[in-house]
Amino acid sequence: MKFPVKHVLACALLAVGAATAHAQTVIKFSHVVAQDTPKGKAAEFFAKKAEELTQGKVKVEVYANSALYKDKEEMEALQLGSVQMLAPSLAKFGPLGVKEFEVFDLPFIFDNREELHKVTTGPVGEKLMKKLESRGIKGLAFWDNGFKVFSANKPLHTVADYKGLKYRIQSSKVLEEQIRTLGGIPQVIAFGETYQALQTGVVDATENPPSNFYTQKMHEVQKHVSMTNHGYLGYAVIVNKKFWDGLDATVRGQLEDAMRQATDYANQIAQDENDQAMEAVKKSGRTTIYTPTAEERAQLKKALVPVHEKMSGRVGKEIIQDVYQATGFDPKKL
Ligand code: LMR
Repeated sequence: MKFPVKHVLACALLAVGAATAHAQTVIKFSHVVAQDTPKGKAAEFFAKKAEELTQGKVKVEVYANSALYKDKEEMEALQLGSVQMLAPSLAKFGPLGVKEFEVFDLPFIFDNREELHKVTTGPVGEKLMKKLESRGIKGLAFWDNGFKVFSANKPLHTVADYKGLKYRIQSSKVLEEQIRTLGGIPQVIAFGETYQALQTGVVDATENPPSNFYTQKMHEVQKHVSMTNHGYLGYAVIVNKKFWDGLDATVRGQLEDAMRQATDYANQIAQDENDQAMEAVKKSGRTTIYTPTAEERAQLKKALVPVHEKMSGRVGKEIIQDVYQATGFDPKKL
């Protein structure tokens, strides 16, 4: 039996089409912040690059704003393989049992981004990422956000002003200790529930980089911000290791390339995004922004650096020393 050439060709095209459709890999990339943030934008950038470089073999679906999972659940979902990619804040690895990551939460451990990058782009960062593998997680990159500011419904100028307030924090033993050291009461609340917790008075203060503060509309429910830059908040982009190792090697290489470009982009925009967010808070006229004097900031630093020593049993003396060595930080020189 003979088929017309046209028919044979159409069938062949259909078969190729079906094979291509079948071969498309979907990466679900879940995160908890708004799209209009350093992490949100970098995730979108990665999605576009990944699709471009793999010529459509990979589709990255980005779910922002805790649309799929909240803080704790997203880590479980990654380990189970329900999502393939996340970029949790570095604080979120402590509760997973990789306590060394809490070194990033130590107050005043980095003075600026240059010091931070000595850790995230060097051997210490590499060593930290390796520690995730036994948890079924592969670390791909560190993405910047920024230095945190404190906010409350009263002015925060001197160390004594911080006392007695209830603070929303991420789930981190180091951050808990930081708040206790200030005489405050720490309360762990999921990021997506922070606005409501501040609005209803469950807590009356918090800390976050400006980009998170503004895009979660915290300026609507916090009257005062103090530009303390007392600690750092950034991310590790991670994938389910089994999924990653199972990818075709060429595709994996293309995704690594997309991730390198997304990381450059993330780290380029992070500072600007935070500056712009603070400008927007100022423009809103709803929150008073205070910059501590050099003396006030020095007092805050003096009060909080002892948290390093207090938490060294949990975070690990070795990793703290590694970071000190990379950045040149000396806790004795305050
Ligand atoms: C927070 O919970 O405050 C942050 O980790 C949110 C984020 O991912 O930036």
